Amino acid sequence: MAIISIASTKGGVGKTSLAFSLAKDLRYRYATNDMSVALNKYKNARYYPNKIPLYPDTVYDFGGFENPHANEILRESDIIILPTTNDLNSIMKSLIFIKNFKEKPILVFANMIDTPADAVMIREKIHEHFPNLAFTYLRRTKLLKNALESGMSATELFESNNHTQHLYKQAFAEYSKILNLFASEQTGF
Ligand SMILES: Nc1ncnc2c1ncn2[C@@H]1O[C@H](COP(=O)(O)OP(=O)(O)OP(=O)(O)O)[C@@H](O)[C@H]1O
Ligand SMILES: [Mg+2]
Repeated sequence: MAIISIASTKGGVGKTSLAFSLAKDLRYRYATNDMSVALNKYKNARYYPNKIPLYPDTVYDFGGFENPHANEILRESDIIILPTTNDLNSIMKSLIFIKNFKEKPILVFANMIDTPADAVMIREKIHEHFPNLAFTYLRRTKLLKNALESGMSATELFESNNHTQHLYKQAFAEYSKILNLFASEQTGF
């Protein structure tokens, strides 16, 4: 039972890719204020261009802040997942976002990570300003892209066959850490 929002003021950081897989794996609704391919790939996906309703058991995929209703949902969310990539612009925008929502539980999601050092660098830059923030990462991988394109969640794609289990082993382990925050009842959020 949770309201999970995935948001960032930076485009192209992986919001939709993660939101789709998480929603499908958790059997949650997927709700967005942004046209996205996920809408055609999941029966519980809905597009709300104007007022976006507040539902339980929902993953919200917010494309920017052009919609003031997004802020209302963000304030009501149990957790905000904040995808952040390894560039200063993305990190700076994330820091501003965190400042604006500092009363909320935020999970910083370092995405498209090329080396472990990149993840450490992003974490340190965030923790320099907000030392207690939850942090996780996902390597650069085709797992989420191929999952979305095929209409499968990351778990469904990973579990399809021996080849995918081999190919996506590490990426799936990283993705599972996020999924497991919600799959178990004692989420801590
Ligand atoms: N871990 C990853 N490794 C490599 N590519 C990724 C990863 N996560 C997402 N991508 C790719 O990055 C691109 C942008 O992802 P996505 O559309 O999910 O971002 P977004 O934040 O929703 O973008 P927008 O702001 O346009 O809505 C896509 O091509 C997606 O496949
Ligand atoms: Mg998107």
